[in-house]
Amino acid sequence: MVQVGEPSEEDCSQLVSIVESMGDCFTVEERDLLKELLNAYFSENKDKYLLKIAKDSNNKVLGFVIYKQADLSKSYWDIYWLVVSPENRRKKIGTNLLTAVENEVKQKGGTAILVEASSTAKYEPARKLYEKMGYEQVCKLENYYAPHDDKILYRKGVR
Ligand SMILES: CC(C)(COP(=O)(O)OP(=O)(O)OC[C@H]1O[C@@H](n2cnc3c(N)ncnc32)[C@H](O)[C@@H]1OP(=O)(O)O)[C@@H](O)C(=O)NCCC(=O)NCCS
Repeated sequence: MVQVGEPSEEDCSQLVSIVESMGDCFTVEERDLLKELLNAYFSENKDKYLLKIAKDSNNKVLGFVIYKQADLSKSYWDIYWLVVSPENRRKKIGTNLLTAVENEVKQKGGTAILVEASSTAKYEPARKLYEKMGYEQVCKLENYYAPHDDKILYRKGVR
């Protein structure tokens, strides 16, 4: 049975291992950034970024999501990273993590969530997941990340 909740400090190494195992998906820069963020979350920055994890009944971490209220906004929230370990995909873990974020945003008075995705093939699962969950494309910034790698911004109202 999969449970979504707040991480404890002991979960940090498992989260970092998931990121490290994803050489096929994230660049070295992306992995370093993500590890930095996770370490900051567990050391000092709990107020800045929020984190939810999905765990199985053996306390194994299966995935996580990092999000926070958008700077200078009373109503928008940003999702920064959503990751499910490769061997646990297509089991609705990503869906459960996003749903947990949406519920918390609603409960805290937020009205909309933004998330971005690259237009490249390796991010197709993420784009499909966001679209299936009702996130609408609000803009596409061509060649944003690199030539032929657009940034697609999605928004979902959660009122
Ligand atoms: C994107 C990601 C988080 C999805 O997690 P997941 O737990 O596998 O997703 P779910 O099982 O909740 O999928 C829900 C729906 O999304 C769509 N979807 C998810 N993965 C898909 C894929 N590989 N191909 C097509 N559709 C997909 C499907 O509609 C799926 O429903 P279905 O399985 O009933 O057809 C996961 O693939 C991942 O970690 N990818 C690498 C990291 C990444 O790209 N993160 C996002 C940017 S930071």
